[in-house]
Amino acid sequence: MASAVLDEAKRIAAGFEYPPEELNKGVDEFISEMDIGLTSDGAGLSQIPSYITAMPDGTEKVRYLRFRLQERRVDANKIYAKQIETFLREHHSEQFSSHVEKRQSGEVKEAYTEEQVFDLGFTFSFPVTQHGINRGELYRWTKGFDIPEVVGKDICKLLQTAIDELKLPVRVSALVNDTVGTLMARSYSSPGKSKTLIGAIFGTGTNGAYVEKMPRVTKMDKCSSDAYNKSSPVMVINAEWGSFDNALKVLPNTEFDIQLDNETVNPGIQMFEKRISGMFLGEILRLAILSMVENPSVSLFGSPATIDKNSILYQAWAIDSSILSIVEADNSDDLQTTKEQLKTELNVTDVSISDCRAVKVLAHSIGKRAARLGAMALGAIVISSGRLATEDVIDIGVDGSLIEHYPGFEAWIREAFREIRAIGPAGEKKIRIGIAKDGSGVGAALGALVAKKASQTLQG
Ligand code: BGC
Repeated sequence: MASAVLDEAKRIAAGFEYPPEELNKGVDEFISEMDIGLTSDGAGLSQIPSYITAMPDGTEKVRYLRFRLQERRVDANKIYAKQIETFLREHHSEQFSSHVEKRQSGEVKEAYTEEQVFDLGFTFSFPVTQHGINRGELYRWTKGFDIPEVVGKDICKLLQTAIDELKLPVRVSALVNDTVGTLMARSYSSPGKSKTLIGAIFGTGTNGAYVEKMPRVTKMDKCSSDAYNKSSPVMVINAEWGSFDNALKVLPNTEFDIQLDNETVNPGIQMFEKRISGMFLGEILRLAILSMVENPSVSLFGSPATIDKNSILYQAWAIDSSILSIVEADNSDDLQTTKEQLKTELNVTDVSISDCRAVKVLAHSIGKRAARLGAMALGAIVISSGRLATEDVIDIGVDGSLIEHYPGFEAWIREAFREIRAIGPAGEKKIRIGIAKDGSGVGAALGALVAKKASQTLQG
């Protein structure tokens, strides 16, 4: 039985393999979707212009305060505006009492002066079709969010209206996707003078933003907007790669991917993300384990092991992807940590060593596939940039729990880079990956700064 369990785990794991030929095919398709997305709206890769045309180089001076807002409600903006008010009261009490309270009580009628207004830059980790740095409609929810009333609405306007209702001296001056924030933050702090090419997130969700040559962004040609500097050589693009290849032309598709997709609120969408990011890896593992538990010819966790009937193994979305990284890190002979995890997290007791091994084989294959798919997207952008031929260092800023904490994730990405024909071992050496700490926070502040500078230039 022990070998049947391991054999079945290996069979399932083989389905998660993403071999070099597939990887290279994926890269070609990604580059082609990138190009389509730059010419037209509504393509698989949205390739959303961020309206950011200048990158920070570390010489900027920013003083910023950050706070995190997380609400899954339609009236979230009202809550946010109240939180901003509390924040101003706490951290800018002088300014608040001298101007704002008087204004709120009706004593002061004149408008705020420019110096009294706070610029608010905020990171928003969902696709927004932007028409300017502080204008844009939510295109769709991802990562399990589902508040239909907000789709199609201008996110900045909603927040500004709520702020204005409270008569706060705050102007929503920039909305940046978290990947754009990561790119800006990394560019601000990246060592040497190499210009950062990509900002990528491998966390709950996954996505990348990168620096594109402006003449290639042809879908902006018809845009009469004066909201950006048209003579700038570059434009930061939010690729929204989570929706790469929703048609599944080249993406791997196991029975577990199919089951998972059917369980989501947005089947058929974000198919790339559903194979990579932290929100989904735990569920893929749960489905794979469950198939082995329910398969009588292998019966994973069979006697003497016992599975509690309330085990999260029987609850969709209940397994956290951190389990995969803990199991991956367990290199002990007796897989004691894995056994512990199965007991404390899954309520499965007295698990045999071969059952632990089987779980490790599954977790390893799911995590490795995610990293290799991520490498495909990063590799495609690197190739498309042309920088391999012209630069010694190609800098990538990253953020997110997978890339930061998942053992082997970056090494698997690098291994895949070497297997991509247009990169190879020589190209891989040129690629530098660095964590962009607090990409979302400092990135939003830099976005607000860049927006202010740009508007001054456009007005001047
Ligand atoms: C969203 C992106 C975001 C990424 C990482 C995805 O689900 O569509 O906008 O950048 O998650 O947070």
